[in-house]
Amino acid sequence: MISRIPSFLKQALLTTALMSAGHVYAAEGVGIVVYNAQHEGLTKAWVEGFTQDTGIPVTLRNGDDTEMGNQIVQEGAASPADVFLTENSPAMVLVDNAGLFAPVDQATLEQVDAAYRPAHGKWVGIAARSTVFVYNPSKLPETQLPKSIMDLADPSWKGRWGASPGGADFQAIVAAILEQKGEAATLDWLKAMKTNFTAYRGNSSVLKAVNAGQIDSGVIYHYYSFVDQSKTGENSKNTALHYFKHKDPGAFVSISGGGVLASSKHKEQAQAFLKWITGKDGQAILKDGKSFEYAVGKNAQSNPKLVPLQQLDAPTVDASKLDSKKAVELMTQAGLL
Ligand SMILES: [Fe+2]
Repeated sequence: MISRIPSFLKQALLTTALMSAGHVYAAEGVGIVVYNAQHEGLTKAWVEGFTQDTGIPVTLRNGDDTEMGNQIVQEGAASPADVFLTENSPAMVLVDNAGLFAPVDQATLEQVDAAYRPAHGKWVGIAARSTVFVYNPSKLPETQLPKSIMDLADPSWKGRWGASPGGADFQAIVAAILEQKGEAATLDWLKAMKTNFTAYRGNSSVLKAVNAGQIDSGVIYHYYSFVDQSKTGENSKNTALHYFKHKDPGAFVSISGGGVLASSKHKEQAQAFLKWITGKDGQAILKDGKSFEYAVGKNAQSNPKLVPLQQLDAPTVDASKLDSKKAVELMTQAGLL
């Protein structure tokens, strides 16, 4: 019967059908470009769910926090990015300080616990990760664990810990120390770190080295261990995790951010994407998926294998003030970069 309908009418009917099925954006060929610095697996799962629900296609461009943040700043208003997602807050601060974000929709902000988003609402937390001290119990007995991340500056820690100073993850931790302890104390700590620590490329390499007994301990994010445990556990089976807690700078919880670019020509779709990933379905992917990052949505649950976020007793750090430029400057001054 449909074959007897003139083609322009058929098109109109088809469009209506697609609209009612929530596929209006796909039908119009309007998609969004996401500059993604979050783990690819996690973002792909978000994109799949979002596109399935809304019909809005998403093109991903992957990179790391600093690289993509700098790229957006360089591209300015001409950036093809509609949305920016990061692993850590400092790259969000970089783009925000350049005035390139549009305010996040109020409904989206309200879905996220106030502790996991900056008060100004220019970007929003999408997930979180905790700093953790990973150690090899056969090399470092529990009784000798440091009470604070600041203790790792002590000469007694020389040659006993590792980190990946070149990565955005560790640089976010330094930015948090800077925010809490100030410039002079941070520089002192970094100089002592230079003397005491062993540099690795990437948190996975730190974990592997601790597991293999090449180094006693390291400072990484929690999920590296949980991800490995969920697979074969071969790079973490000889390790344990120590959470500093007590609002220590080493108990820093880093917020992964999401923002809509002010220059986006698809703002409605871009806002819909942020709303989706911070909403019930998006946050459930954090609980059920393989990322082992924390959920930040109100009433959203994280993976039950994790130490609950509320028990980590993290320091209160204003994520919108995390200054990665200064952190990198101090790290360079200390000879770490
Ligand atoms: Fe990471």
